[in-house]
Amino acid sequence: MNINRKAWSTGLFLWALALAVGCQNSGAESTEESAETPTRSGLYQASELALTMRDMAKDMESLRQKADEGTLTVEEVDALMQTHQAMASDAPTKPEDIKPSFAGYSEAYLSQLEDLRAAIEQQVSREERLDAFNAAIATCVACHQDHCPGPIPRIQKIKVQP
Ligand code: HEC
Repeated sequence: MNINRKAWSTGLFLWALALAVGCQNSGAESTEESAETPTRSGLYQASELALTMRDMAKDMESLRQKADEGTLTVEEVDALMQTHQAMASDAPTKPEDIKPSFAGYSEAYLSQLEDLRAAIEQQVSREERLDAFNAAIATCVACHQDHCPGPIPRIQKIKVQP
């Protein structure tokens, strides 16, 4: 009886830990696991928002080099806007932790992608295009400071040095 109760509370503890992981670690290992597979315990399913965020991180990491070289295309930014906009309506892991600032940051991020698109289309200088790319990444960081500090070191690495 006693042992059972202990096992049960250990299970609860592990479950709570699994929920916390997305925001507390760097998110680096999240990219390894398949998005649809729950963790070994089978108890944790990533939220819609967490899945979108993992894609966002992968997308921006894979475009970083092109941003640096100045070879990002309008089509690539269009694809980002199309998928990343889901962030505004996705269900988060813990709705009670989402602050009123979330909507503003999410709007700001999407409008920064529009600025980036415009910068590419208007063929402004490489420096200005880099600024636009880095401004979008800075908004990721700003929202994360309010909501989910764990992945910030990973996100900072996506910024391109001018
Ligand atoms: C408007 C606020 C906001 C913006 C902008 C934002 N994030 Fe997030 N991000 C969150 C929240 C909230 C979570 C936690 C999601 C959850 O657990 O449901 C999160 C989670 C994450 C995670 C962890 C996902 C996991 O495995 O659980 C990563 C990585 C991440 N974001 C990267 C980024 C990157 C890269 C950008 C910009 C390209 C970005 N985020 C922009 C709010 C934001």
